[in-house]
Parts: sequence; C-alpha cells; structure tokens
Amino acid sequence: MEFPKSGTFPASIVRSKIMGPNPLKLAEELLDGADLAAGSVVLDLGSGTGITSALMAREYGFTVYAADLWSEPGDNMRFFESLGLTNRQIVPLKADATALPFATEFFDAVVSIDSYNYFGRDPTYLGACLLPLVKHGGLLLFSIPGMVRDCHDDLPACLLASWTPEQLDYMHDMAWWRAMIEQTEGVEIVDMYEMSCTREAWADWIACDNEYARGDRAAVEAGALEFLNTIAVTLRRA
Ligand SMILES: C[S@@+](CC[C@H](N)C(=O)[O-])C[C@H]1O[C@@H](n2cnc3c(N)ncnc32)[C@H](O)[C@@H]1O
Repeated sequence: MEFPKSGTFPASIVRSKIMGPNPLKLAEELLDGADLAAGSVVLDLGSGTGITSALMAREYGFTVYAADLWSEPGDNMRFFESLGLTNRQIVPLKADATALPFATEFFDAVVSIDSYNYFGRDPTYLGACLLPLVKHGGLLLFSIPGMVRDCHDDLPACLLASWTPEQLDYMHDMAWWRAMIEQTEGVEIVDMYEMSCTREAWADWIACDNEYARGDRAAVEAGALEFLNTIAVTLRRA
C-alpha cells in the first residue's frame, strides 16, 4: 500500500516511537476517505507517544488532543515541538479514557489506534464515557488489534509463543466487536472491515529493536498473523 502521509516521518523516529504495529499506517488507512475537514477538533485516544497525533495535526490539519494514560504529556510536547508543532495545533494530556476531562459535544471526531481494546471491552464504556464528548453527527474511528475468529477456547501455539491467555483476552473478532458496540444507543455503525495494512504494520513493528518488539517476534514468526487481524470501526453519533 502507499502511505504518503506516514512516509513523511523518518524511519528512525517511527522506530523510536511506535508501541505496536505501525500506528501511522493504521491511522492513514483508517482516515482514508473519512469525512473530516482540516480544522476538525479530534481526540487521539490512547495516543501513546503521540506519533499519530502528530500525523493528524501536521498532515491532516486537525486540532488534536493527544490523551494517554501511561505516557508523559511533557515528553510528548517536546516531541511535537521538535516537529515544529505548537500548542495551538496539538494538546498533550494525561487522562484515563474512563474519566475524560472534556465538555460534552466537544469533539468533531475521536480516533483511537491500537488502544480501544484496553477500555472498550466494557459494554457500558462507549455510551457512558466517550459518545457524549462527540458532537451529534461526529465520527469515531477505531483501529483495533483483533482476531480473524475468536479462538480463546483453543488458543494456537503460535499465539502462546509471545502472549498469555490473559493478554489474548484483549483481542476479539469482528462479530464480537459488533455485538459489543450494538449495545450502545445513539450511535450508527458506518463501517467495519479488516484492515489491509495489517501485515505491513506488523512487519514494521517486529523489525524494531526493543524488548517488546523482540517479545512479539516469536509469535509472528510462528504464524500468528494467520489468526490475527486489525479491525477498523467507523461510527457516527446520531
Ligand atoms: C499499544 S499502546 C498504543 C499507543 C498508540 N496509540 C500507538 O498506536 O502507538 C496502548 C496505549 O493505550 C493507552 N491506554 C491504556 N488504557 C488506557 C486508559 N484507560 N486511558 C487512556 N489510555 C489508555 C496506554 O497508555 C498506551 O499508550
């Protein structure tokens, strides 16, 4: 696939910032064709080191709030500044997705890359914590690490080469996510599909030289991607 916007980031920066399958490529595929104009106010939820937030601010012209629980907003701000981005374009903050400090109907859109499965597995989460923050008619775009078919009752050895059954509980198939989301009123499922860039995004990740990438390499090399996918979800608030 072609990733003209992701390609503007030097490989050394990508390798030092990513925390899983290349989030820039996931974000670019997810946002391709999304009805979001420059100037839209977007929450990057579970933004990690903020590389997708920088992508959206710099390459899409969105005003981005980069909200994450584990990363330090100051570190992320220094990274954004090193890219020439200002606090008028991008706002880093430490926040828990279950207690977000924003006004209702604040955002034109929410984007969440490789994070929604940490908090979105609670059937009350979407309706209680996230949807109220989005304008009516606004979009929610998720890229979720998933399973081709749920296989928690009989986990393949290749998955267990890198992950415990508890870690694999965070991954589910598209039918499971659809059933989870359908429990929430006031939101339309616009689209759900398996993302095309999954293998490429994983290849970029396991080529990284850090302990987490090295840990995930065993599963991928044993054939895990026969069982794993990435699920794109596009929702619209009614
Ligand atoms: C695998 S990382 C992905 C980070 C980033 N989106 C990316 O793709 O590079 C998962 C992120 O989810 C965030 N996260 C997990 N639980 C969270 C919560 N309750 N509230 C906010 N962020 C959370 C973590 O802080 C972490 O940065």
